[in-house]
Amino acid sequence: MQTPFPFETIAPKEFFYGRKKEMKELKEHVENSTNVLLFSKRRMGKSTLIKNLFTEIEKDYTVIYIDIYNIITAEDFGKLLLNGITKSQEGNIKSIIVKLSKFFKKTKIEPTFDPHTSEFGIRVVENRLSFEELMEDSFSALFKLASEKNVVLAIDEFQQIADIKDVKIDAILRKYMQEPSSISYIFLGSKRNILNSLFAYKSPLYAMATPMSLKPLNLDDIYNYSKQYLDISKEVIEYVYNLSAKETKLIQMILHRVYINKKSVKKIDINFINKILDTILISKNDHYKTIFEFFSINQKKAFKLLAKHERELFSEKILREENISRPSMQSSLNQLFAKEFIDKEDGEYFIPDRAFELWAKRNLK
Ligand SMILES: Nc1ncnc2c1ncn2[C@@H]1O[C@H](COP(=O)(O)OP(=O)(O)O)[C@@H](O)[C@H]1O
Ligand SMILES: [Mg+2]
Repeated sequence: MQTPFPFETIAPKEFFYGRKKEMKELKEHVENSTNVLLFSKRRMGKSTLIKNLFTEIEKDYTVIYIDIYNIITAEDFGKLLLNGITKSQEGNIKSIIVKLSKFFKKTKIEPTFDPHTSEFGIRVVENRLSFEELMEDSFSALFKLASEKNVVLAIDEFQQIADIKDVKIDAILRKYMQEPSSISYIFLGSKRNILNSLFAYKSPLYAMATPMSLKPLNLDDIYNYSKQYLDISKEVIEYVYNLSAKETKLIQMILHRVYINKKSVKKIDINFINKILDTILISKNDHYKTIFEFFSINQKKAFKLLAKHERELFSEKILREENISRPSMQSSLNQLFAKEFIDKEDGEYFIPDRAFELWAKRNLK
């Protein structure tokens, strides 16, 4: 369904708002072919920002976006890159094939035909290539493309490369990134501790990208945008903002439901927002319950105490509530952290999925 408040799919241009400053900063980077590490916790709007940047600049740049969330092997990474490069080419199929075939040494390109849509396309045949060969072909094409038109290559969920232990993808990337070219690399990621170590001193990617932390959307931007679709006051928007702990996705979910149910109330007030939140949490109940049921007993205790108290989890009083020892609390928090159910900032743990946190506050008593 078309909604002015998308929350599960990337917001297209007409429903994308705010982020003026970030856009400007990113444009300066791509103009200078410098690299960026864009990070924030999940659901704040990184992927959406980059996709919308690409929509704005694709006339003047070759833009390539890959999401490596699912990679299991280094070859998967190489294949995604090769396919991303191929997909970035638009226009006449035949001339794309001729052009890419010249750029790739080993990779074959084939035309495809979809009988359902009667559309022609292209397919990369990369089955038997090794990681090194995939990277060589990818970068040989990238460098040639960059000599025609500046290239921007965005790699989403970049922290995933840390899961691949047998091949040092970062070291190989560094080697290619050091060659002078008109390519701007944008790395996106959410696991701060992993990203920190990937870009740390003495790591291959050290000083290879300017870090940029994506902050929450600006309250005024949300208000000014929402006003176009909803008869809503600034106070109520601010309530939504704080209720969502400034998480873009939950803000959008709430505003979407307000939008589709607005005819059922005379006035959009805080009471209405609370009712909307109730329905959101009920709709997510099965999902969160299933996650919670898979926690160990101590993980359940730790999660519950974190949701309830947020601070001072190691105090005698709080530990006693669930009858959990300090070492068990620590190791349970570590396990939940490793699995990304909880996160840490300035030494304090928190539940990064705000809807999950609100669900836990209500249901784990
Ligand atoms: N600037 C924005 N304008 C409108 N919607 C946005 C904006 N930023 C994020 N969203 C919405 O919030 C949701 C989460 O954003 P996403 O880009 O997936 O976050 P991340 O990549 O940081 O995890 C998306 O469904 C998206 O549509
Ligand atoms: Mg994302």
